[in-house]
Amino acid sequence: MKTMKAVCIYAFGGPEVLVYEDAPRPRPGKGEILVRVHAAGINPVDWKIREGHLEEMLHHTLPLVLGWDVSGVVEALGSGAGRFRVGDEVFSKPDIARDGAYAEFIVIKESEVALKPKSLDHIHAAALPLAGLTAWQTLFDAGGLSSGQRVLIHGAAGGVGSLAVQLAKWKGAQVIGTASAHNHEFLRKLGVDQVIDYDTERFEDVIQPVDVVLDTRGGEIQERSWKVLKRDGILVSIASPPSAEVAKTRGMRQAFVFTQPNAPQLAEIAKLADAEKLKVIVETILPLADATRGQELSERGHTRGKIVLRVID
Ligand SMILES: NC(=O)c1ccc[n+]([C@@H]2O[C@H](COP(=O)([O-])OP(=O)(O)OC[C@H]3O[C@@H](n4cnc5c(N)ncnc54)[C@H](OP(=O)(O)O)[C@@H]3O)[C@@H](O)[C@H]2O)c1
Repeated sequence: MKTMKAVCIYAFGGPEVLVYEDAPRPRPGKGEILVRVHAAGINPVDWKIREGHLEEMLHHTLPLVLGWDVSGVVEALGSGAGRFRVGDEVFSKPDIARDGAYAEFIVIKESEVALKPKSLDHIHAAALPLAGLTAWQTLFDAGGLSSGQRVLIHGAAGGVGSLAVQLAKWKGAQVIGTASAHNHEFLRKLGVDQVIDYDTERFEDVIQPVDVVLDTRGGEIQERSWKVLKRDGILVSIASPPSAEVAKTRGMRQAFVFTQPNAPQLAEIAKLADAEKLKVIVETILPLADATRGQELSERGHTRGKIVLRVID
């Protein structure tokens, strides 16, 4: 049996349950491809799954390889797989219910894969799929954001936020973003029109009403966000489902998004990256064997852009 280096969990828990080891190399089935992983992005969902928070919904089988952001090269095709050729450079946000990309190889349904943006190396391409699709599906699919509208993005300097800012600007929207002071200059350079310091200002006191709120935080930030929405505006959350009752009472709308794999949207995102409309910010690059350190950094909650694991030099 062929093996590969991988970071797996055999039980749910803290960072100590992550095991860097030799694992069986997966084989592609019908409609699937085997990808040699060059880089794997780290997302907060990785450590949330590691801690067991999503098990009621996902029912993973252990051991499980973590990590659902990947850039790499097609190594082999399963039966009936014909969208790609061996040797193609691809990227993906694969199905979160299956083994992930903290490994030298991953099997992915080819319907979840797109060609990697040519202008990005694997490290930057691996930072893009999950956060990019999240930004796209929240702002455009759920939020219906259009040119001339105003959007408030909470956590604008993070993985999702930094891409959402740029997608919203590309769409022609006016963007208000929240962050702590050390990210203000960064956000202005990214294109944010109004930067709010969440430590010293209450956003609801200082901004004009908006059409869309992208809530990456939940809790009291979500509660306070109703106050800044226009009538018929929409609160889109990726943190926790907003109250349908409150939305109805206020004459507003709400949506909760759980990001889905989507190859056509990934291809659009790749085009934008190649056209230099999307800059991918990678704050930290670590070797695969340091996945534990990567997750600990992510858990601190102050990543600027993304953390990425380098699998092949
Ligand atoms: N539902 C879904 O499908 C889905 C998809 C993707 C992500 N998510 C969730 O969405 C959240 C954001 O994801 P992410 O990848 O963007 O996370 P991330 O990259 O870890 O976010 C870090 C950013 O959050 C900012 N931040 C921390 N505290 C803040 C506060 N009180 N107010 C505003 N910003 C604050 C930090 O800015 P400062 O350093 O300036 O504080 C930092 O730049 C996570 O909980 C993730 O699990 C859900």
